[in-house]
Amino acid sequence: MAKINENYSKLPGSYLFAEIARRVAAFSAENPDVKLIKLGIGDVTWPLAPAVIEAMHKAVDEMGRKETFRGYGPEQGYDFLRNAIVAHDFKARGAEITADEIFVSDGAKSDCGNIGDIFSADNVVAVCDPVYPVYVDTNAMAGRAGEYLSELEKWSNIYYMPTTSENSFVPELPKTHVDLIYLCFPNNPTGTTLTKDQLRQWVDYANEHDAVILFDAAYEAFITEDDVPHTIYEIPGAETCAIEFHSFSKTAGFTGNRCAYTVVPKALIRQGQSLNGMWNRRHTTKFNGVPYVVQRGAEAVYSEEGMQQVRQTIAFYQENARVIREGLKEAGLEVYGGVNSPYIWFKTPTDSWSFFDRLLKEAHVVTTPGAGFGPSGEGYIRVTAFGDAEDTKEAVRRILDLLK
Ligand code: MLT
Repeated sequence: MAKINENYSKLPGSYLFAEIARRVAAFSAENPDVKLIKLGIGDVTWPLAPAVIEAMHKAVDEMGRKETFRGYGPEQGYDFLRNAIVAHDFKARGAEITADEIFVSDGAKSDCGNIGDIFSADNVVAVCDPVYPVYVDTNAMAGRAGEYLSELEKWSNIYYMPTTSENSFVPELPKTHVDLIYLCFPNNPTGTTLTKDQLRQWVDYANEHDAVILFDAAYEAFITEDDVPHTIYEIPGAETCAIEFHSFSKTAGFTGNRCAYTVVPKALIRQGQSLNGMWNRRHTTKFNGVPYVVQRGAEAVYSEEGMQQVRQTIAFYQENARVIREGLKEAGLEVYGGVNSPYIWFKTPTDSWSFFDRLLKEAHVVTTPGAGFGPSGEGYIRVTAFGDAEDTKEAVRRILDLLK
């Protein structure tokens, strides 16, 4: 008899964004005439930059001619893209990362989940709470999370680091031993960040304890403040303790185009094994590379005009973030994030799922309930700045009217 992975039976409910989509679909089916404004899942609305489109068109034409057609590409990504990544995302920031430490992939979400393949099932995993649910759920699937304790809404073997207004959204270093530490800054969902000094403490901790930091930098393009690191490799010593995930999704509108990359430094060694070598083995065995056309599109993000166009789109989302942040503050709400991030996180007058439902049913605005990100997210709501500008203003008006 084929036996199943029983860890799946321990997973509570459905994936957060699937549950939200289900509630939204049920509401829309009953209220087909209501125009909902969707500021829930962090999905972009602005089209791809013209430079990206042009590069992709050109690449499509190449695929249509015998002389320029390409079959399988290198699993790790084409050199043209890996070199552009190194030059712009690392060298320009003083971080010594080389092209053979970059693995181009179809998404930071997949990589954040798949990275567990190279780690033993008995590692202790630490996550911030609230947390992007992928870190927790994928470790639960791999049998690393222990048992789900429904009364606590926590897993028995996961070390939770509360990241709330009480500690100014700066998690405390673990008090007991942990092996794998997921950090996401600018943070999803709270929209808050760590300064370079604050991140340095984590790098020092990980090096001292032989832990590995899994650093999710998917939102770095939204950083506006100088003292906030764009990559963990700006911090000395990170190359011996950190793996980093980047994505073109939020930076350049690639949520539907799928392109991201993971950095595994060659200096990162555990138990005598190179994690770069292990990830390379995993990647080449289980993945056949991102489509050539998409990689040409991603490369164009780093061209002069590409960078300028992408910056304009980000500025547009940043303006939405400002509108949401200031609008909600005006209504007397306690509001966080939105300065170095497309996410705004605010305290709710009631529990977060009830407030989510109220916003959906009465204000017709889709958000994400904080409790969906972990127990310390209770009492908060997350709103994204990725919407259309007019819709965003209208959503803020509707929320304010509801709270009057
Ligand atoms: C989110 O809304 O948290 C993100 O869009 C999810 C993701 O990037 O997978």
